[in-house]
Amino acid sequence: MSTIELEHGCAQTNVPLVPLICKVKEIIPQTSDVASIRITSLDDTKPYDAKPGQTSMLSVIPYGECMFAVSSQGDDYLEFTVKRVGYVTEQLHALRPGDQVGLRGPYGNWFPYEELKGRDVLFVGGGIGMAPLRSLITYMLDRREDYGRIDLVYSGSTVDDLVYYDDITENWPKIDNMHVHLSVYKGTPEWAGEVCYTAPFLESLGIDAKDRVVVLCGGPSLFKTCFQSLVRLGFAKSDIITTLEMKMKCGIGKCGRCNMGSKYICLDGPVFTMQELEELPGSVH
Ligand code: FES
Repeated sequence: MSTIELEHGCAQTNVPLVPLICKVKEIIPQTSDVASIRITSLDDTKPYDAKPGQTSMLSVIPYGECMFAVSSQGDDYLEFTVKRVGYVTEQLHALRPGDQVGLRGPYGNWFPYEELKGRDVLFVGGGIGMAPLRSLITYMLDRREDYGRIDLVYSGSTVDDLVYYDDITENWPKIDNMHVHLSVYKGTPEWAGEVCYTAPFLESLGIDAKDRVVVLCGGPSLFKTCFQSLVRLGFAKSDIITTLEMKMKCGIGKCGRCNMGSKYICLDGPVFTMQELEELPGSVH
């Protein structure tokens, strides 16, 4: 599909709610309903730098807009990994290279990659929850010597729902001191690995909580069960980090959609420790 041609895009730094008009550089299918969309400026440069965990608003004019975590970035693009779940994401999936798309951001805080230096890090995610995790994983792998052991525990409903399949099955397991643990919830003849829900799979791995930080991202059920498992495994709530970017709307503290008690996810998050979340009324667990 083609979007409406706009002559002028206003930089989001000057007019916060007006998107910068960009274009699609590339679309990489991940699964039957997930695709990674690479966005570049109209002059083929990267629209802006985003820190791992930061979010941006993607819009398909005139259909609407949605907030996504930046899943990775290159010299001339930002990448967003989008699951087709509704009207706007349908339109995003229908885009083709060269089509125009609105972009505003980057919003919110980011994963504490400086504080994690020298630490062992356990990533836990399911399905599309890989998108924000990937931004930090690739950041750390690009600076491998700065970080300790990396474990990734990742699950999908079936093997066909695992995103970044080449990375998780081929590329990342070959990296020094990186360990990838995969499971699916429903076995199929093509899958020779674990068939198990994420939380019991996580508990079965015997991962030591000592000196290890967790970054957790997934749907509500995975989030709740894995959090309980991590506490049982001995992880301190202050060492369990997550992101709530799905609850953001305007991104700039105006719409009130994201507030929890005295905090706004868009201004104070989306990255929080579980200890911080526990202190907020109406938090997610
Ligand atoms: S997303 Fe609108 S106030 Fe936070």
